[in-house]
Amino acid sequence: TVLILDFGSQYSHLITRRCRELNVYAELMPCTQNIKDLKLKPKGIILSGSPYSVYDDEAPHVDPDVFTLGVPILGICYGLQEIAWYMKGQVTKCDHREYGFAQLRVQKLGESHVADALFEGLGDEMQVWMSHGDQLSQIPAEFHTIGLTDTAPFAAIAHDTKPFYGIQFHPEVTHSTRGREVIGRFVLNICKCSTSWTMEEFIGKEIARIRQICGPKGRVIGAVSGGVDSTVAAKLMHEAIGDRFHAIMVDNGVLRVNEGKQVHEMLNKDLGVNLTVVDASELFLSRLKDVEDPEQKRKIIGNTFINVFEEEAAKLEAQAEKEEASGAEAKGRIEWLLQGTLYPDVIESISFKGPSATIKTHHNVGGLLKDMKLKLIEPLRELFKDEVRALGRLLNIPAHLVQRHPFPGPGLAIRILGPVTREQVQILQTADNIYIEEIRKAGLYNDISQAFAVLLPVKAVGVMGDKRTYEQVIALRAVQSEDFMTADWYVFPPEILRRISSRITNEVAGINRVTYDISSKPPSTVEWL
Ligand code: XMP
Repeated sequence: TVLILDFGSQYSHLITRRCRELNVYAELMPCTQNIKDLKLKPKGIILSGSPYSVYDDEAPHVDPDVFTLGVPILGICYGLQEIAWYMKGQVTKCDHREYGFAQLRVQKLGESHVADALFEGLGDEMQVWMSHGDQLSQIPAEFHTIGLTDTAPFAAIAHDTKPFYGIQFHPEVTHSTRGREVIGRFVLNICKCSTSWTMEEFIGKEIARIRQICGPKGRVIGAVSGGVDSTVAAKLMHEAIGDRFHAIMVDNGVLRVNEGKQVHEMLNKDLGVNLTVVDASELFLSRLKDVEDPEQKRKIIGNTFINVFEEEAAKLEAQAEKEEASGAEAKGRIEWLLQGTLYPDVIESISFKGPSATIKTHHNVGGLLKDMKLKLIEPLRELFKDEVRALGRLLNIPAHLVQRHPFPGPGLAIRILGPVTREQVQILQTADNIYIEEIRKAGLYNDISQAFAVLLPVKAVGVMGDKRTYEQVIALRAVQSEDFMTADWYVFPPEILRRISSRITNEVAGINRVTYDISSKPPSTVEWL
């Protein structure tokens, strides 16, 4: 294991990912982690970057015990400054923030010096990505310079005898062209971590863990949405405990075209997972009637979901009791609730800065636990999205599903800007279906992180045949993003947009105008509501 101590940099989770891409297990913890209390035995420690300056009053500092733990340490950006601060070097403010590319010139000490190990075999120069306001102005005693740039005389340093390294640049971002190799040198060659973190290994271990937790009789229920996470989690549960896992899909009336049917076919018929699809669209749509406020929509959908889910769970229990009463073998109680929580959610909740301010209340099934007295089982909580996808492929989940764009819990309700009615849902479903169909036909689906249509409840004038029309507008959204915290709008070839627009205005009754959303996040968000 590599332990990454997070000082709050926006790139910290990327360091974790890069290690895992090398099949080395890496875990992120807040920088304030007490080293004596660590349960895991890391083979190396990476100190992340930070928005702070080491001399700030409120600057976070690492437990000094990391330096006596006897394992290699790599400090990145603030991490380097933290090492220097602790070892009595000097850190000063740059005249201007350095943000962007720089050319790192590697300096070798020669004679197989331990300090050379970090850049060994990586050449004399490399392009690196800088993002800092402070830099080292005096190197601590017992340290050597192992790299410099035009503006940073101590851009990379290493201890004379101990495996302590510090680099001013960010090897975890792709702009640092040999960054992955630098991280590889540290975790593989210097820390000598084993490369046993593979999805094949993970499946075996996780299935064994689930079986142990659930015991021979324990039953588990879980909600599925047709998205990657819940599908992979459900399939993994099915592999582990077979029919003792029961999935429930709630059709809330604001899903995409044929979604309930497709999920049923795929999960139940193809993958063999025990599944009930509940059509609760009437109930949801009646509760959503005349509601325009986005947070209100989210709340109604979240609460209604809980009501429907609980009712279904109660039905399953009642059914089991009835079977037992008529002489069937006892089934065991439903004790567990499956949740498809991913590692980024876990990271968010352990950040030393506390959870970030709520921009939107993302709907999840957390509310179920309070009322149902179920215990939580989260088989994906150690995984990043791309690891979940790799796991899905190994579990034989069809490729088109594994690559599917995310779809929000509150569904089309947050893509219909006015009140949600069955008619509005149908208009949006049809337009969205055409949009995604054309994106797939053009071979662009996997290049885009998320694409969807939005229904604007404004009316615009158009002309069709010789007649004036006065109808609603569809906005198209497509973004590229690593983690949806930031996103860039997607640049389509114009002819694709032309075809999509022409098909939507021709085929969707009630729409006479299509616009393309060219806003990035920030300042916009991905969804319109
Ligand atoms: P925003 O709009 O916050 O979206 O930039 C970022 C990502 O989150 C998804 N999203 C949601 N997912 N429940 C969800 O499960 C929600 O309420 C919700 N709101 C936004 C959005 O689709 C995008 O992928």
